[in-house]
Amino acid sequence: MPKWLTDKFIIGLAPMDGVTDEPYRQTQCFVGKPDVIITEFVSAEGISRGGVQLYDELLYGENERPIIGQIFGKEPESFYTAAIILSHLGFDGIDINMGCPAKTVTQHGSGAALIDKPEVASDIIKSVRQGIDDYRSGKKTINDIGLKNPSLEVIKRNLKYSGNPEPKNPTLSVKTRVGTSQNSIDRWIPHLLKHNLDFMTLHGRTLKQGYSGLADWDAIKIAASMAKDAHTPLWGNGDIQNLTQAREYGEKYGVTGILIGRASMGNPWIFTDKIPTLRDKFSLMCYHAQKFTEIFPERQFDPMRKHFLLYASGHPHAKNLRAKLVHLSSLDQLYALEEEFLSC
Ligand SMILES: Cc1cc2nc3c(=O)[nH]c(=O)nc-3n(C[C@H](O)[C@H](O)[C@H](O)COP(=O)(O)O)c2cc1C
Repeated sequence: MPKWLTDKFIIGLAPMDGVTDEPYRQTQCFVGKPDVIITEFVSAEGISRGGVQLYDELLYGENERPIIGQIFGKEPESFYTAAIILSHLGFDGIDINMGCPAKTVTQHGSGAALIDKPEVASDIIKSVRQGIDDYRSGKKTINDIGLKNPSLEVIKRNLKYSGNPEPKNPTLSVKTRVGTSQNSIDRWIPHLLKHNLDFMTLHGRTLKQGYSGLADWDAIKIAASMAKDAHTPLWGNGDIQNLTQAREYGEKYGVTGILIGRASMGNPWIFTDKIPTLRDKFSLMCYHAQKFTEIFPERQFDPMRKHFLLYASGHPHAKNLRAKLVHLSSLDQLYALEEEFLSC
């Protein structure tokens, strides 16, 4: 196991599709670096079958390490190919998504639907393990897995962006939930633990719950104790609001790490002990937007608006600001709001 995984209690950034893209992660690292970062999930079938645009989600900087790439899907063969791609891209770890509750994902048997398909889940884990091993031993290279030129070119672009890293020996992990319609940790966690994972993350909700209700930390505690017996680190996840709570929950529920997701949105200072001023918030909104236009120059500004609203939440003039922030379409328009943002 790598040192970063066993050295200390981990407090990391949870993967969030449509949120934790590369500009977001760069902004997060600029303010305060989480102990580990996981990318948004990317479709194993998509990247292995030529979905070149999906590679935007796998862009990362050297400053984000340890950085783990997350993949989802349902076909073990695609996971094998995806594991070779992520190994080649130099990720520190490969995480398999077995927790996404979105209908678009679960109706195809991917994400949290795998909780009820333990045999397929096993095949997927074994395929990723095989992909990692075959790449490391030199049995398979990036040129041996049937990728066409556009994919090979975009892989080169990603490598260049990351500073042409040497391949690592990636960790293999699973992020999952406590069950589908009800808590099934008694069956599901021992099943996962048979696979000699480097670690696993457990979000304390069922698929059915989606993001409603509260995360069941008592269930996480029971799973953490099973994982301890199997010598597998287990990270807890769900509803953590700050560093103090993360550390307290670590002690109380016996997990070796915590992932923080939603509470970091608009508040990347969550990974520090700093309370941001309005000036800090405005400067960071500008930094985030600059990163976005730098990294994705061809994209419309629209996806930034949700972040602006979050940075502005709690602002004394939030209502007036919101009306303007939802219409921003350029950096200059954002800069023009400085005076209003800083006055209160
Ligand atoms: C908008 C959004 C997107 C998410 N995308 C992913 C994802 O791509 N992969 C994943 O494993 N979990 C994803 N999650 C789940 C989070 O990683 C996390 O498990 C969940 O939000 C609970 O943690 P929190 O209460 O700290 O936010 C997503 C959650 C949200 C809100």
